[in-house]
Amino acid sequence: MASGTSRDVLGSGLRVLGRAIREQPRIFAVAVTGSVLFGLMVIASAYVVGAVVGKVVVPAVARGSVAGGTLALAAAALFGISVLRVVGIFGRRLGAGYMQYRLQAAYRRRVTRRYLELPLAWHHRNATGTLLSNANSDVEAAWYPIAPLPFAVGTLVMLVGAVVSLFLTDWALALVGLAVFPALFALNVVYSRRMAPRQARAQRLRAEVSGIAHESFDGALVVKTMGREAQETDRFAARAGELRDALIAVGRLRGVFDPMLETLPSLGTLAVLVVGAVRLRQGAISVTELVSVAFLFTVLAFPVRAIGWVLAELPRSVAGWDRVRRVLDATGEMPYGTRTLDPATPTPATLAFHDVHFGYEPAEAHLPGTEVLGEVSFTVPAGRTVALVGPTGAGKSTIASLAVRLVDPRAGTVTVDGVDVRELTAASLTSTVALVAQVPFVFDDTVRANISLDRPGIGDDEVWAALRLAEADGFVAALPDGLDTMVGERGTSLSGGQRQRLTLARALAGRPRLLVLDDATSAVDPRVEAAILAGLRAPAGRTSADPEHRSAAPGPGGGAAASILVVAYRRATIALADEVIYLEHGRVLARGTHAELLATVPGYADLVTAYEQAEQEREQQHTYDEVTPLTSGLEIEVDR
Ligand SMILES: Nc1ncnc2c1ncn2[C@@H]1O[C@H](COP(=O)(O)OP(=O)(O)OP(=O)(O)O)[C@@H](O)[C@H]1O
Ligand SMILES: [Mg+2]
Repeated sequence: MASGTSRDVLGSGLRVLGRAIREQPRIFAVAVTGSVLFGLMVIASAYVVGAVVGKVVVPAVARGSVAGGTLALAAAALFGISVLRVVGIFGRRLGAGYMQYRLQAAYRRRVTRRYLELPLAWHHRNATGTLLSNANSDVEAAWYPIAPLPFAVGTLVMLVGAVVSLFLTDWALALVGLAVFPALFALNVVYSRRMAPRQARAQRLRAEVSGIAHESFDGALVVKTMGREAQETDRFAARAGELRDALIAVGRLRGVFDPMLETLPSLGTLAVLVVGAVRLRQGAISVTELVSVAFLFTVLAFPVRAIGWVLAELPRSVAGWDRVRRVLDATGEMPYGTRTLDPATPTPATLAFHDVHFGYEPAEAHLPGTEVLGEVSFTVPAGRTVALVGPTGAGKSTIASLAVRLVDPRAGTVTVDGVDVRELTAASLTSTVALVAQVPFVFDDTVRANISLDRPGIGDDEVWAALRLAEADGFVAALPDGLDTMVGERGTSLSGGQRQRLTLARALAGRPRLLVLDDATSAVDPRVEAAILAGLRAPAGRTSADPEHRSAAPGPGGGAAASILVVAYRRATIALADEVIYLEHGRVLARGTHAELLATVPGYADLVTAYEQAEQEREQQHTYDEVTPLTSGLEIEVDR
């Protein structure tokens, strides 16, 4: 409710500010000290100016001469006050800036770290554009009021000091102050309450606009090929127009309140002059005192605005903070266990699924989630290759996600070397298993950085070894800067097959003991694909067809070859597997060797044959641009 929001906003806003102060207490203390020093010097300057007028200017006008000593004293006092004021301003600005930017940086880090901790299910529910604006404009908005906050706190101290000094001067003038200052404060509070719903709306629209913009860049290809530019532009323009209107509403309110906030202290000065003139005639105050108080009201007008700035930014800050907190407080991150799997000599790992059931969380909580996998049990024995075959939507990628623990099963367990993956530490899990996903992702960075990902122990030699295994060394060596070539955002400067091989090399460089390939070589020439798989499982100089040597096969660079779970379609790829698991509608329908399944499972035979025909037609139509010559040990025998 909007009215509820605007009433709560002051309280919530003060709590956000309190959090900021608790997080950066020392810098805040520096900034406030600077601000209080400034405030006290403002009051002091009013009295010095009053004294200069009363003791120097008035006698000078009356007598036509000034005592040199008095003049020097007045100059020294004004100079000293100015220096201290400058020091105060410096401390305040520096402190406030440090505090604001440190908080922004800290929360940007926390939000992005949280994104990585939150499970895939959470990401499926949240648009990328919203996530971008949470980490950017929402974090910034949350800490906007930090910049004027020390000034405002110093000003509050200054106002108290001013009222006290007013009382010490004259009660009638003090009453003017007591009328004006609380009125200023009240006006500021009304302002911020009116502002709250408008700012919250603007902040929400900012996120929506960035979401639409992100989606249309991301889907540029679809938008262009489908001729949807005009509609996309309209969709964006409509939301951008709403944001414009929301911001104009904010500006209009500011336009009404700013002049009022500006005028009130001037009215105060006027009142001081009227009341002061009366009191002067009554002999209750001196010229010095009247000038001091009038000057005080004039110089107070500006700092008092600082309180208004903080209050005006509070609604936006609360809106931003609520959106940031939604991310920070989101639950569902995977708790990791404490067990590790680090054998003295790295050997291929055993993967097993025990009666695994899985369903994706429904988009809305009240809907029932459908089961995507049921009663899935199978084993990838150490050093063996198991192929996962099934029609589209059967659940192959889901099994791959479960195997590397991107998601956890609803029931049943996934084990690596007999240990439930939920009991493993994150580090042990990532060093043991690697997934090459169906959609390759390449960072906007060099080839080297994309493969090593700054992981320890992965130097150029390891990068090249991984590239060789992924059959990617040829094209990388031919790139203009070799490993230093920038590959462009999402690998746009690479072909689909090249991108797949880079992501494969990235997985291999970590020397995983279990490799999960989710259709990871679909865009690669079938012969190259077969060569890659054969290279992964067979030691150099041995024939890959010899099963006796497989399990203990030393792998690349003296390490161990990995166990492989491969989602595959091509007959040549499938034929390399020790066992094939055939999946339909999330259930294991059959398992066995390729030949056995082909003979006994009609659905399997249909699928593999259909895919093969499509593949042959494709190959007849165009030859692949990069055919890497195959080495002798890699000839594949395909049954049937
Ligand atoms: N994030 C998700 N949220 C909800 N349902 C999903 C999600 N991802 C996949 N599914 C559903 O789960 C089922 C299995 O999907 P999965 O991606 O595992 O299939 P697949 O066998 O890999 O298919 P393909 O061969 O097309 O890659 C499908 O019915 C799909 O609609
Ligand atoms: Mg898939």
